[in-house]
Amino acid sequence: MTFTESHSASHPEPQSPLWWQDAVIYQVYPRSFGDGDGDGVGDLAGLLTRLPYIASLGVDGIWMTPFQPSPQVDQGYDVSDYCGVDPLFGTMGQFDQLLDAAHTLGLRIFLDVVPNHCSSEHPLFQAAVAAGPGSPERAMFHFGNGPDGDTPPNNWQSVFGGSAWHRVNPGSDTDTEWYLHLFSPQQPDWNWRNPAVGDYFEDVLRFWFDMGVDGLRIDVAHALFKADGLPDAANANSVVDGLRSNPQVSDQEEVHEVYRRWRRVADSYSPGRVLVGEVNLDPRRAARYTRHDEMHQAFAFAFVKLGWDADAWAAVGTELEAARREHGAPPSWALENHDIVRSATRFGRGDRGFLRARAGLLAILGLPGGAFIYQGQELNLPEVDVPLDARVDPMWARGGVSRDGARVPLPWTVTPANTFGFSSDGAAEPWLPTPADWGTRSVEANLQDENSTLHLTIEALKLRKQLTEKEILSPGDGGTWRVDDGGLLTCQRGEQFLVAVAMGDEPARLPDGQVVLTSSPLTAEGLLPPDAAAWVLLR
Ligand code: NOJ
Repeated sequence: MTFTESHSASHPEPQSPLWWQDAVIYQVYPRSFGDGDGDGVGDLAGLLTRLPYIASLGVDGIWMTPFQPSPQVDQGYDVSDYCGVDPLFGTMGQFDQLLDAAHTLGLRIFLDVVPNHCSSEHPLFQAAVAAGPGSPERAMFHFGNGPDGDTPPNNWQSVFGGSAWHRVNPGSDTDTEWYLHLFSPQQPDWNWRNPAVGDYFEDVLRFWFDMGVDGLRIDVAHALFKADGLPDAANANSVVDGLRSNPQVSDQEEVHEVYRRWRRVADSYSPGRVLVGEVNLDPRRAARYTRHDEMHQAFAFAFVKLGWDADAWAAVGTELEAARREHGAPPSWALENHDIVRSATRFGRGDRGFLRARAGLLAILGLPGGAFIYQGQELNLPEVDVPLDARVDPMWARGGVSRDGARVPLPWTVTPANTFGFSSDGAAEPWLPTPADWGTRSVEANLQDENSTLHLTIEALKLRKQLTEKEILSPGDGGTWRVDDGGLLTCQRGEQFLVAVAMGDEPARLPDGQVVLTSSPLTAEGLLPPDAAAWVLLR
């Protein structure tokens, strides 16, 4: 297998301190990217050897989801040591080597920081459990009782299903407290009203920034502060999308002070470090997290989960544009991540789903702002229907929703079946089973097919860079969204560039201009076929 060697070997010193505004970042889910030691779980060694592949795409950096020590109840989002490397993934020495190698390839590295909760095996939580009610150790978390002692302090529900409270010491008469966990019981929430928590996390940030990490993706960034006094929620049963439908657990005003502090820390480094938030709120509220002295960027979350619906894309796009005008920060576009159903499956059945996913990817790479590509999106991988007995997502056991199907190990080669180049031949079974046809979707198969989504991605990123160099695209561009009667969605970006997506059932006439890239060939009449996207230079 060969990779296109199109990367620059320079250290990623920012040419502009605003480089992040239009950066394209590739999301690596380490346990499913590449397995270097043959245990069936991806690791840092596997990622290191595959860095040239990522560089060959033409992206600006990598966001790595958690690899810190963790019991892996929520695949690493239950962190027991924020400043280490879980032996499952490798060593700190290997991480250091990875960081250097990435920088040499011109790739920046973003890590995931998980400040809302830790693992119940974190030493500070263990100390809190041992210290008992009323102790300063317990004040680092949310411990408490309901009025009659036997019930939890309030009616909040966990995002993963069931009560958000867990009795710490069932059966004890002296310790009747419960603790809060917005996610699984093994993920206790930190109490951000305690200043010691803020100090602790500043040290965590500095630890990674001192090592040379370029930025952080902030997990559940809007939920750190809960409403003072932890009042009952109006809708106790709001399990699905629990954070958004329960305002008591998210978007409290005090949280903005955390990001002002983090921004000061990030700006004190040279080059400055970058903060990108998982702020799962509507566009106007989310944009408040990217005011000039807070985070640099927030994912365009309202957009991430949209179906194939021109009006919805235009409405959310227009709202995001209004929010950008109000607060100044361009959005970070994404259509996939490790938590949601792959777009090839979400957007429709069979071929139409695959065509639409390609089109969606080309579209977000043309929109004004940054963009995130989730590993495998460049291969147009579908969601996998993981067999019931192989599902490990805690959300499946507690809430009946499994995110495993978007997390299946990447296929690198056409053969051998089962590992498909993810692990070396003869290695342990991949931690999630791979489908029989996975090889036909592999990197190798994509490289051999000049019409593959992998080649389209590389071409789009090359063109994006050229158009930016020619100042046809600029990070400060506004976006004007429209839908015509035939279902052609357009976003005009700046003066000269337009992204079009044919979301209706008939081929669509494009606005006058030069079509510079399409996700499917134009028809003989020069129309954009249904389920395709185009980039157009306007005349
Ligand atoms: C968002 C992460 O992306 C998801 O995987 C995780 O389960 C929750 N936050 C809790 O950390």
